[in-house]
Amino acid sequence: MSQTPESKEEKPAPAPTRDLSKVPVGQEQNEAEAGIRAKAIEAQLKKALNVPADDETEPSPTKTHAFWGTQPVPAKPSEQVKSFEEAHPLEDVEEKMKHIRKTPLPLPQEFEWFNLDETNDEQLTELYTLLRENYVSDSDAWFRFAYSKPMLKWAINAPGTVKEYKCGVRVAGTSTMVAFISAVPTVVAVGGGEIKAVIIDFLCVHKSLREKRLAPVLIKEITRRVNLRGTFQAVYTAGTVIPTPYTAAHYYHRSISVEKLLDVHFTGIPKMMNVPRLKKLYRVEDAVETPGWRKFRGGDAPVVREKLNEYLRSNFKVAQLFKTDEDVIHSFKPRPNIVYSFVAESPTKDIDAFGSFYCVTNECPKSDKHPSIEIGYIYYYFTNGRVPLVELIGNLIVEAKKVGMDVVNALDVMKNKEMFTELKFGKGDGTLNYYLFNFNIPALQPEENGIVLI
Ligand SMILES: CC(C)(COP(=O)(O)OP(=O)(O)OC[C@H]1O[C@@H](n2cnc3c(N)ncnc32)[C@H](O)[C@@H]1OP(=O)(O)O)[C@@H](O)C(=O)NCCC(=O)NCCS
Repeated sequence: MSQTPESKEEKPAPAPTRDLSKVPVGQEQNEAEAGIRAKAIEAQLKKALNVPADDETEPSPTKTHAFWGTQPVPAKPSEQVKSFEEAHPLEDVEEKMKHIRKTPLPLPQEFEWFNLDETNDEQLTELYTLLRENYVSDSDAWFRFAYSKPMLKWAINAPGTVKEYKCGVRVAGTSTMVAFISAVPTVVAVGGGEIKAVIIDFLCVHKSLREKRLAPVLIKEITRRVNLRGTFQAVYTAGTVIPTPYTAAHYYHRSISVEKLLDVHFTGIPKMMNVPRLKKLYRVEDAVETPGWRKFRGGDAPVVREKLNEYLRSNFKVAQLFKTDEDVIHSFKPRPNIVYSFVAESPTKDIDAFGSFYCVTNECPKSDKHPSIEIGYIYYYFTNGRVPLVELIGNLIVEAKKVGMDVVNALDVMKNKEMFTELKFGKGDGTLNYYLFNFNIPALQPEENGIVLI
């Protein structure tokens, strides 16, 4: 997953503790029984993972990261290479190939692996529910991500992905899903070169099964599946710091629906401000004025692919690339409430600029006024200069308002910092750490990073 809880300026009251016993996981009868079962599951998971039980572990340099300490990632910042000339995989592929396990990692007997079929509505609903109830929320529980079913279907089904990359865990013999992780193939430009990789997303473990080492089992299992298909690198993001981020990006927010965002405590009223002044400050035009501005169409894919890749390659040290027209169409063809993309055509019909944003609903469980807010995330873009970046992103804000977004979020990756002040983005308190699996690169500034994950 690519997200981090939303920021807000005022701290609301702490959230009431959620009653997990109401969550239908397995057949727990009472707390004592559930406790014993949880211990047994944890021991079995550790066995599956080859992690010693806590009381057997000697103090060691990997003590603080029992799992990540065994993985091909730099253990700490001092182990990151200093230049792209030195960038390298941390594990030898040929050696690795000899030892790839052919069968899935064992799970405790209560659980089983399954490949999520997103065309099956019942299974898609299971995923939606798992994420809605257990995925990322802010620490005060004012907001929680609620990726819609069509959004999830789109995100986990990028071209080239296979059913084994939609990796679920459910209670054996039932449809109750308790964990998930997904991978989609991509190509990443690194320094001057390219690596074949997957994007790992939507890692989620049910709240009642947390801290039982199930996440490492999921990560090892998806790694095995991806390795079996000949890919040995991955890109992923997390709000938490694990070994070792190559960059840390920060979220910025551009208010659109001022009163609604105040109502749900997404933003507060700064000193010397009041609601009418804030509304005036964040007023958004009704229409885009850039000549030649129009929605992206499938027929634009070849030109957009070429220009976008060129922009990403030449401006950023690490970037996602879009290798086929199918990738571009999948990622950017406008889909209501999922993704919106636009181009600016010159009078000679050249595409001078391209911009996109994707949409995520954030539920507001504590608000009695609004059930949710809609957030547009600045996604990929390029411009050749005829349309300045401020104008391009400004246009995306107008388009976001037109389709009902309440706020536009952007990370300080790519060239976004150049437009934050003029377009009135404010810094939030969310940080998103970026990681590469099995590839050691130097630490980067976020503006050197050209990757935006869903
Ligand atoms: C992230 C999540 C799956 C971790 O599960 P958990 O039950 O807390 O942790 P487990 O006991 O299973 O495993 C702990 C190991 O996973 C690692 N881990 C925790 N979060 C991780 C993440 N987002 N990505 C990769 N590894 C992670 C821990 O560092 C630890 O390994 P270590 O001992 O080497 O440090 C779980 O907290 C969750 O579902 N959170 C909500 C969704 C979410 O934040 N997903 C990640 C998207 S950014």
